[in-house]
This record gives sequence, C-alpha cells and structure tokens, in this order.
Amino acid sequence: MFKLPVLRLGKHQPRYPLIQGGMGVGISGPVLSGAVALHGGVGTIASVGLAVSSPLYNGNNYFEANQQAVKDALEKARRIAPEGVLAVNCMVALTDYELHVRSACEGGTDVIISGAGLPLKLPDYTKDFPDVALVPIVSSRKAADLIVRRWEKLYGRIPDGFVVETPKYAGGHLGVTKAAQVDDDAFSLETVVPELAEYIQKELKLDIPVIAAGGIWDRKDVEHSFSLGAKGVQMGTRFACTFEGDASDRFKQAYIDATEDDVVIIHSPAGLPGRAIKNPFIRDYIEGHVESKPCIANCLTHCRYKKTRETFCIAQALVDALKGNWEEGLFFCGSNVTRCSKLEHVEDIIRELFVE
Ligand SMILES: Cc1cc2nc3c(=O)[nH]c(=O)nc-3n(C[C@H](O)[C@H](O)[C@H](O)COP(=O)(O)O)c2cc1C
Repeated sequence: MFKLPVLRLGKHQPRYPLIQGGMGVGISGPVLSGAVALHGGVGTIASVGLAVSSPLYNGNNYFEANQQAVKDALEKARRIAPEGVLAVNCMVALTDYELHVRSACEGGTDVIISGAGLPLKLPDYTKDFPDVALVPIVSSRKAADLIVRRWEKLYGRIPDGFVVETPKYAGGHLGVTKAAQVDDDAFSLETVVPELAEYIQKELKLDIPVIAAGGIWDRKDVEHSFSLGAKGVQMGTRFACTFEGDASDRFKQAYIDATEDDVVIIHSPAGLPGRAIKNPFIRDYIEGHVESKPCIANCLTHCRYKKTRETFCIAQALVDALKGNWEEGLFFCGSNVTRCSKLEHVEDIIRELFVE
C-alpha cells in the first residue's frame, strides 16, 4: 500500500486525495458530487447550464435561473454529504462567469475550481467568502505563474491548489488552443506536474497542492500521479459512468458502448479542441453538414456559432447529450471512455483506489 498524500485545499481536507472533476452540462450535478463527497473525495458540481434542468427556467431567464440552480444543487449535495467537501466548477469562458462564482459562494461551496480560461479576477468575486478555497485549472507552469503574480499583486491572495489537466487524455474542452497541441509532451502530466510542483516549492516557497487530471482510472494511475509530485488526482470520465452520475442512462450507455474508433477530437464552437464520442451528430459535424438548434442563451464569451452561425449551439448539444439524445447530442468524454464497461458505484471506485 502506497502512502497517501494529504490533500489540503485552504481550510478543507477530504478524507482521500481525490477530486471528482466538474462535468457540464449537468453530468456532475448534486447526486454524483454528493456521493463523492460522502465517500471521502471532493465532489464537484459543474455550474454551467444547470438552469436548463431547473423548474425555474421558463425559456427566457437562463442566467437568473442558473444562479438559483447552482444554489439548489449545492443544497441537495450538502444534504447527501453534510460533512463532505463540495466544490463548484465555474468556467471563465462563460459570459456570466462572475455570477456562477458568486452563486456558488452564496450557496455554501467549500471550493471553487475554475477552468476554461485564466481566472484572473476570481479573488475579487470571492472576497466576501475567505473560507472558499480557490483552485485554478491550468495546462502549463506558465499559466500558473501568471495567475500567482496577478493574484498576489492585485488581491494579496494565492491559489489554494492547481489542477493540471493534460489534453492528451482528458474529457470536455482540452485547455489548449490547437488540435496539434493535444498530444504534445509539453502538456503531459509527466512534464507539467513536476515542473509546477518544483516551481511552487522552490520559487514560491509555498505548500500548495498540484492535482493531476486526465487519463486517471486505476490505482496504478493514481500512484503514478503521486510519484510525479501530485498531492491529489482529479477524475472525470470514470465517475460519469456511475449509478450516481446525474446523466441519463442513455448517456452512460454511450460511454459503455464507445470503442477507440469512436473517440474523436473536435474543434468546438468555443474555438477549442474537445474530446467527444463520434455519434451521428459529431459525424455530420466533422463531414461539414451539421444543423444546429437555436442558440439557448448567448452563454459563451467567444462562440463561433453566435458570431458566424457556423458550427452549432454547444449548450443545446450538451443538454441533448445529458438527456440521452444519441442522434443530436454532444457526448464529451475522456480517452478512458473505452474502459467503461459497466455502471459502477462511487463508493466502490473510491474504495478500490484508496482503501483496499
Ligand atoms: C462529459 C465531460 C464534461 C466535462 N465538463 C467540464 C466542465 O464543465 N468544466 C471543466 O473544467 N472540465 C470539464 N471536464 C473535464 C473534467 O472535469 C476532468 O478534469 C477530466 O475529464 C479529467 O480527465 P478524465 O476524464 O480522463 O478523468 C469534463 C469532462 C467530461 C468527461
């Protein structure tokens, strides 16, 4: 049995050094995050697009309904795991990013994990909630350095941890701007995790954790991440395909059925590479003839569909996937989707990784 590192995120410390990654739209909602937090990991709600499944949403009040939906999701997760550590994943690329962060803080989150852009103003948005730990997702040491310098200078605050996510294996948007960078070793966990851990220790002389994400499935992967200097792991794909996962059964079945040939990198409407399952919708998109449903809510700061009407409404396509619409949905996944062969229980995964 390897010695487990202690994962401390500001004032919060889960029993195990595990974060279940935020997965939008709605894939990691209150049930999955509550279960992970209950069983000793950090359970993360993805704040993006929660409005669409909320009873408050009337088709015209997306932004307002989303704020309440974030709070409702936190309340539900907290009921499942009163003593657990809960996080909310907020994406910088959203037009209403600040409102996502504020709703998460007001709803009682312990941690904000922030990806899809550099969260340069995050400490300002959370200044009334000093106990909320702030954890940016980065794909390079350079990005981490920029955040540290800006936060120290403007807010006198440093991040409480960094998630390093490798584009080579992770799901969803991949944290690099070009498809050619996806397999680039410069963005591998083997390169970035030790580099960032050393920078934190030797240059910053701080003790904040680096958390490895992307392609982590079993105990061997977890041990490997710790050997690189990570103090925790973040896992997405394996948790999406659980009994507790908030997606529809059809979404999870798509994960179970996916083979290596079905996993593709697409250029998303957000202008970033993303990893997804090649279902009929994505096949048509790749072949250049996709028809989009209307834009739901102008949710992204940079959206090619909004600008040119090329591509498609990503929020709508992700909601379709969440609901199990195989023909029309965008099924984001990590490369490990090929290892999903059955539904698992959250408790069993955590026990297999950290206890047995
Ligand atoms: C379906 C899906 C949706 C995701 N959505 C988000 C998201 O909304 N925000 C984010 O920062 N990361 C998102 N991710 C990335 C995960 O949080 C996680 O870091 C990543 O998938 C880890 O790699 P793994 O899936 O190989 O474990 C998503 C991943 C998946 C599979």
